[in-house]
Amino acid sequence: MSHSVSDMIIALDGPAGSGKSTTAKLVAQKLGLMYLDTGAMYRAVALKVYRSGIELTDSAALTKLLNTTKVEQVAENGHSKFLLDGEDVTEDIRTPDISLWVGPVSEHPLVREYLVSWQREIGKHGGLVADGRDIGTVVFPDATLKFYVEADVHTRAVRRQKELAARGIQQSVEEVEDAIRTRDLRDSTREHSPLRRAPDAVELDTTHMTIGDQVERVLYLVAKLKPQSKEH
Ligand code: DC
Repeated sequence: MSHSVSDMIIALDGPAGSGKSTTAKLVAQKLGLMYLDTGAMYRAVALKVYRSGIELTDSAALTKLLNTTKVEQVAENGHSKFLLDGEDVTEDIRTPDISLWVGPVSEHPLVREYLVSWQREIGKHGGLVADGRDIGTVVFPDATLKFYVEADVHTRAVRRQKELAARGIQQSVEEVEDAIRTRDLRDSTREHSPLRRAPDAVELDTTHMTIGDQVERVLYLVAKLKPQSKEH
């Protein structure tokens, strides 16, 4: 099968701190595709639920909230900005509180239904690199290329701790590792769309890889699909 790069969907799934979003972002830049950060969408909805104070068991209130929620990812100076009902929440969705809160919110079938259909709408013409937990299994099961990105839990905690420290949030590696283990368990054992490697996903264990290696590996496999990129 021949693939035009501009129509491709590249899916990267994997646990927190595996390197999937950094890789996805750079691959998208290199190929001139859109990058879709689905984790940020779940985080933005979690922030709204958190602020609203509604109970997740209150389906009617949750439906109403979702029906009046708009989550957007916009590019600005080469970076993604996230808007929740027009408000820039790029920083607010990355706090440890939201990382805790997003678990139960992202498990909710109403939330998943709402965001999955929104993600499919964004990707309906292809041309994107998306990362998350269920991109290759549920959102885009026919994605052109799928990756399952992994790394050992300690390595992932060290990476996350550095990211948090760079944003002025101080947590020890042990604390971050504990939170990651809890989230891993939650993401992989939940009833709806658990984190799973799609049978046709390429495994990418980034424990001993640099970001450059990861990007190169993905680009190499894209080039194998379609050596003369960007043409129809
Ligand atoms: O990738 P992240 O850490 O920003 O994701 C935040 C949470 O959202 C994560 O705990 C699981 C959830 N998530 C999901 O359920 N499905 C996705 N496609 C992406 C993220």
